Amino acid sequence: MTDIAAETYRAKNYDVFVSYKREDDAPRAVLVAALEREGFEPWWDAKLGHGDFRHQLRDQINRCDVVIALWSQNAHAKPDEVKMEMAHAFGVEKLLPLKLDSAPIPAQFAKENFLPFDGWADEKRAGGQLAHILAEARKLGAMPKGTPAPPIPPTIPVEFGDIPGAPDKLIGRDAELAMLRDAWAGRAPKKVNAVVLHALGGAGKSALMRAFANELLAAGGGGASRIYGWSAYSQGSGEQKRADADSFISKALGDFGWAGALPKDPVERGRALAKLIQKERVLLLLDGLEPLQDAPNLNRGHFKDKGLAELVKKLAGHNPGLVVLTTRQEVPELQGFGAVTINHELDQLSDHDGADLLVELGVHGRQRELEAAVHELQGHALSVTLLGTYLAEVCGGDIRHKDQFDFAHIVLSPEEESELLTDKTIVPAKRAAKVMRGYLAQFEKLAQDGGRSGRSST
Ligand SMILES: Nc1ncnc2c1ncn2[C@@H]1O[C@H](COP(=O)(O)OP(=O)(O)OP(=O)(O)O)[C@@H](O)[C@H]1O
Ligand SMILES: [Mg+2]
Repeated sequence: MTDIAAETYRAKNYDVFVSYKREDDAPRAVLVAALEREGFEPWWDAKLGHGDFRHQLRDQINRCDVVIALWSQNAHAKPDEVKMEMAHAFGVEKLLPLKLDSAPIPAQFAKENFLPFDGWADEKRAGGQLAHILAEARKLGAMPKGTPAPPIPPTIPVEFGDIPGAPDKLIGRDAELAMLRDAWAGRAPKKVNAVVLHALGGAGKSALMRAFANELLAAGGGGASRIYGWSAYSQGSGEQKRADADSFISKALGDFGWAGALPKDPVERGRALAKLIQKERVLLLLDGLEPLQDAPNLNRGHFKDKGLAELVKKLAGHNPGLVVLTTRQEVPELQGFGAVTINHELDQLSDHDGADLLVELGVHGRQRELEAAVHELQGHALSVTLLGTYLAEVCGGDIRHKDQFDFAHIVLSPEEESELLTDKTIVPAKRAAKVMRGYLAQFEKLAQDGGRSGRSST
């Protein structure tokens, strides 16, 4: 950093202030490189000019969007500058603290969430951790002011098949993203091989899965050798179309380098694909698997397709990467594997997150009213998305018009749910069926109302 005059640095606007101890220059450099790749202009003390350095530090902290502080044994041993900068940043609500090791956290920051950055020296682990750090920095308001660097072309092969794209902005789901990041970054004995996200239709399973994959891609792949996805849902949802896991497995065998004739037996094909995948560190995404499963009250909802069952079970047993499955019901095949598989039921959106989603979709109104609308919809992401889109497109975004679209009767009431408690396994299917019937009725009503008002105005 000696070829540019210090004045040039001072005159510029930087986005992110990096606070660190000189002994931690190596992780500082890894962080700065990642920030620069994303178009940020980070500032650290090598860019100090002449004159009162404390004044310059304060000035830079005030001007940056976010202060990322690297806390470590080194910082703990001589806590003066880093701790002082952290206190300043905390005071102006810009602090994003990271921990490089297990150094004790100063008492005044005990309630702060120190994000792990102990994997900085390992390209694979650093990728996952940096993706999380950059996402949090953005949440805190970090916005690249400079010309963004050209996006890094995906350095890894990527195939998403028919999996729906992620929403422009994934709202909430912090805990689930953290779970997926940990599962991806995890090492033995905490290594996770498979994550099942199950919930009723429209809860946001595919959105979460795609947003996580996109996050890895934004970090240059996050250590994945490839991201490979397939959706059974779009093919299996129509009467005429049957989800065909066997065709997927045969195609994937080719994509993963199988040479020669395919094994004759579907189970053998599933096993062969698992073996090829196990040679790499793959993020495998299997979306919308419920058409390939028996109903939950029939054969406990096992996969009908034996090849797919074999693939999934083999990967759950051993997987240098991770397989993420989404389905509207549980996956009994993956129960009993212990900590290497996570079976996670995705909650509905909280009232607060649902209100944020409405705002993101272009709805405005009092927070209380936004949250009440989400509450009525029981936080069902698809319903909130439809309501938000409708209000934004048709009603100028005004939440006070929400009653034009009567979603409240779409979701199962607590009374209806408790009536179904004798057979819990059918609750998700009943919920989904009611939601779908409700949408049809609502859209038909809207079409008729629209038609009537259209006729009366002519
Ligand atoms: N956290 C979220 N933030 C923003 N939008 C979301 C979120 N979760 C879901 N959505 C939106 O809600 C809709 C339904 O989500 P999604 O398709 O992911 O549901 P799903 O659980 O996969 O449903 P299905 O079982 O029918 O496949 C989509 O339009 C999606 O973009
Ligand atoms: Mg889906």
